[in-house]
Amino acid sequence: MLKDSFGRTFPYIRLSITDVCNFKCGYCLPNGYQKDNSDNRKFLSAEEIGRLAKGLSELGVCKIRLTGGEPTVRKDFFDIIKILKNKTGIKKTVITTNGYRLDKIADQIAESGLDGINISIDSLNRETFKKVTSHDRLPEILKGIERLQKLNFKNIKINAVLLKGINDSEKDFNEWSSFIKSNEIDFRYIELMQTGDGLDYFRKYHVPAKIFINYLNNNDWVVQTLGRNAGPSKNYIHSSFKGKFGVIAPYSKDFCKSCNRLRITARGDLRLCLFGSTGISIRHLLQKDDQLEELKDLISKQLNFKKESHYLELGDTGLTKNLSTTGG
Ligand code: 5AD
Ligand code: SF4
Repeated sequence: MLKDSFGRTFPYIRLSITDVCNFKCGYCLPNGYQKDNSDNRKFLSAEEIGRLAKGLSELGVCKIRLTGGEPTVRKDFFDIIKILKNKTGIKKTVITTNGYRLDKIADQIAESGLDGINISIDSLNRETFKKVTSHDRLPEILKGIERLQKLNFKNIKINAVLLKGINDSEKDFNEWSSFIKSNEIDFRYIELMQTGDGLDYFRKYHVPAKIFINYLNNNDWVVQTLGRNAGPSKNYIHSSFKGKFGVIAPYSKDFCKSCNRLRITARGDLRLCLFGSTGISIRHLLQKDDQLEELKDLISKQLNFKKESHYLELGDTGLTKNLSTTGG
């Protein structure tokens, strides 16, 4: 099992398969995706991804989350899922998506055997959704979710970034509450993180996750205690609700203690932390099947460099200009 020098283990990898995203979320890519002309390397091929996943699986990784950018923009998206599911030993393959064509691909998703889906929806209010993402896509996304549920697809989660004056009112919380009352869907607020590009945005819209936690406490939601390796989301349950609430509060004390993830960018750089300034390329070891041992060795050794905390509270955002390359 992959282990760092602070005793944390890493059963979980977030793998970006493209930097491209068609949305323009204010906290991430307010001006939309811009091609980086200084970097003309292509994104990892399905074949490279297959080799990477096999190596990771032999290192004890059991779950891979495909992220982006927006992972479903890739034409070979379903081929990649097929490879991960059938050829690598990885037990769980899940994705994070903005859901922009969920209504169209829900059937394919259900058929693909994907083990879970996280969809970003910052607001259930169509106008607000449009304001945050620059796309009027909420109805299609909700339709896609309904379809998935009809097909009995399990493990649907929704993430929203908590934003001051946009989706942080009691009314917003109540809307989500009604939504998960009868839907077996977990909804989580993520506290806005400061990124290199997003400093002004952060100053304007950051609000501590505490306001949502207070709401949960006042409305009889109970913290679910989970074992080690549960990850950074703190979950809340309530007996009269089918879904759960969750909070990801990256600025809270001890947040990094529960870190169970590593990230790999779409061009094959290993990132030890979302905000770390360390990131080496492992792509040269994804070229041939017989490089597997060397690849495993490099990844295990790199883990010794993983730091204890992100030091975000010191205003250090590391390499992270925005989260589109590392998939949040
Ligand atoms: N702060 C918090 N979450 C972010 N995401 C993207 N940028 C940020 C940020 N600055 C999250 C989005 C999406 C996921 C891919 O990353 O909510 O769900
Ligand atoms: Fe795209 Fe996700 Fe960034 Fe929004 S948060 S711009 S959907 S990568």
